[in-house]
Amino acid sequence: MSAVPAPSVSIPYGRQDISEADIAAVVEVLHSDWLTQGPAVPRFEQLLAARTGARHAVAVNSATSALQLVYRALGIGPGSRVWTSPNTFVATASAAALLGAEVDFIDIDPRTLNLCPQRLEERLEAAGRDGTLPDLLVPVHFAGRSCDMAAIGALAKRYGFRVVEDAAHALGAEADGVPVGACRHSDAVVLSFHPVKIVTTGEGGAVLCQDDALATRLQELRSHGITRDPARMPAEPDGAWQYDQLEPGWNFRMTDLQAALGASQLGRLDAFLARRRALAVRYEALLAALALQRPQRDARMRSAWHLYVVQLADAPLRRRVFDALRAAGIGVNVHYRPVYLQPWWRARGFAPGHCPEAERYYAGALSLPLHPRLSESEQNHVVLQLGEALAGLS
Ligand SMILES: Cc1ncc(COP(=O)(O)O)c(C=O)c1O
Repeated sequence: MSAVPAPSVSIPYGRQDISEADIAAVVEVLHSDWLTQGPAVPRFEQLLAARTGARHAVAVNSATSALQLVYRALGIGPGSRVWTSPNTFVATASAAALLGAEVDFIDIDPRTLNLCPQRLEERLEAAGRDGTLPDLLVPVHFAGRSCDMAAIGALAKRYGFRVVEDAAHALGAEADGVPVGACRHSDAVVLSFHPVKIVTTGEGGAVLCQDDALATRLQELRSHGITRDPARMPAEPDGAWQYDQLEPGWNFRMTDLQAALGASQLGRLDAFLARRRALAVRYEALLAALALQRPQRDARMRSAWHLYVVQLADAPLRRRVFDALRAAGIGVNVHYRPVYLQPWWRARGFAPGHCPEAERYYAGALSLPLHPRLSESEQNHVVLQLGEALAGLS
């Protein structure tokens, strides 16, 4: 295989927007007594919970950690069955595989690009007959648009499985007027604060939930499975120094530096969302004359517009347009190759054809630059270059 040098990208598909106030918030922590395990993390958690309507927010060092943490806290382990969408980042599935669970993928609805509730229902009916119902379903709010959680929640009640929403793309999104994160139809919701996401902490993530016992377990597991609460200890402590390890856990803690940045960024969330939405509306108009499929909007699902994904006619055209735009310094990207087509999953028996809609979508998918700092002239340039690439190649 020949190594192709990556051309330099001057307009990235996503990036952070850091203000002087964000920087000042981090510097304040650097001057304080606590770089980690101080007051900034619980403050950020309270702000996250208030914003989303969750009772609890548990901040951690990435969404990947958050997924593993909440799967484990819900009892996922060897022999468990976890189902998710193929149209996601590998972490959604691999966090379950790392715990020893058996993972399967439910095809997407080509209109929403999210896990399809009808396909899910069909698979559940069959699994009910075979005795292979899932323990946990992880719907992914792809590109910032919520899945139909009311439909999924009804199926969860009927078939008795748990639900964790992977909302790494969807902080600030709404479904039927309710913020993503409120856990109306799920056990928990996972957020990511990676720099390309809606708000950033550098690296970072969180689990949102309503249940007090689940929140306590998440807090313990993110910090070695340790408690300092005498009420959680099986016997009277020897003294005030004592902590008890209740089970093996991880160090998935977020630092106070990250939490201070997150709290400051959260204060800018509405401005970020408004800018992303305005750019999405602008793309819709600018792209109307081009031979491609634009994202379909839905009045019920207010997207956070993490990604703006268009679909081209076929894989060879997508490849040529991708290369032409990258050569022109435009950081287009592709989200996502169906997870089960990755080598590790192929080696475990998955093959092309497992989720035909996700494969069809992947063949033509192209993510255009979308982030709060993208200027209108940069956006015009992206559309002009895309139009030229399509005209030159068709
Ligand atoms: C859908 C989805 N889930 C999980 C993750 C993992 O997030 P993190 O980078 O915070 O670990 C990502 C990151 O891209 C993602 O897109």
